[in-house]
Amino acid sequence: MTANAPSGPATRLPEAGGAAAGSATFDVVSEAAIAAVLDAFYARVRLDPELGPVFARAVTDEAWPAHMAVIADFWSSVMLKTGRYKGNPFAVHAKVEGISPALFARWLSLFGESCRSLLAPDLAAAMEARAGLIAASLQAGLFFRPGVSGPSPIAATAPLP
Ligand code: HEM
Repeated sequence: MTANAPSGPATRLPEAGGAAAGSATFDVVSEAAIAAVLDAFYARVRLDPELGPVFARAVTDEAWPAHMAVIADFWSSVMLKTGRYKGNPFAVHAKVEGISPALFARWLSLFGESCRSLLAPDLAAAMEARAGLIAASLQAGLFFRPGVSGPSPIAATAPLP
């Protein structure tokens, strides 16, 4: 065994051991790290008895690739500040049938599991924290000020250090 352990993001083996084994850990945020988390998360979401039907109603099987591309743009903007996402999450979620505060708790739980299974602990914590802030912002807009558009949740979280 040598001292050059594969801890750097550029040297890690792709899919070594499979994501389900939790062996593929990203230490640094990157498009690849974001994509891995999102693949794991939405696989969980689609199988979830509470969230699965909500997504199945809103996103057909054929529409999933396009949906995942938008979500990847969103997280790229949030975590890497690429500015790729140009949408309005408040307007989109306001039209999601069956969305509720209880489902947000479930969403965050599955998102956290996905982050922790694939990312180094500090990176997982940072991404989970972002998701938590955005979820809180979305819920405030959706459930406490219905019908009124709020600020972008990205803008709302941008001032964080
Ligand atoms: C109960 C919680 C949630 C549910 C049930 C939910 C459900 C959905 C559904 C069904 C869509 C697709 C809507 C459509 O295309 O017609 C969607 C889009 C999206 N969701 Fe969520 N969502 C939840 C929470 C969140 C959270 C917390 C975030 C971010 C941290 C998020 C980020 C997004 C983004 C970026 C899109 C794409 C928006 C666009 O098309 O511009 N969602 N969500």
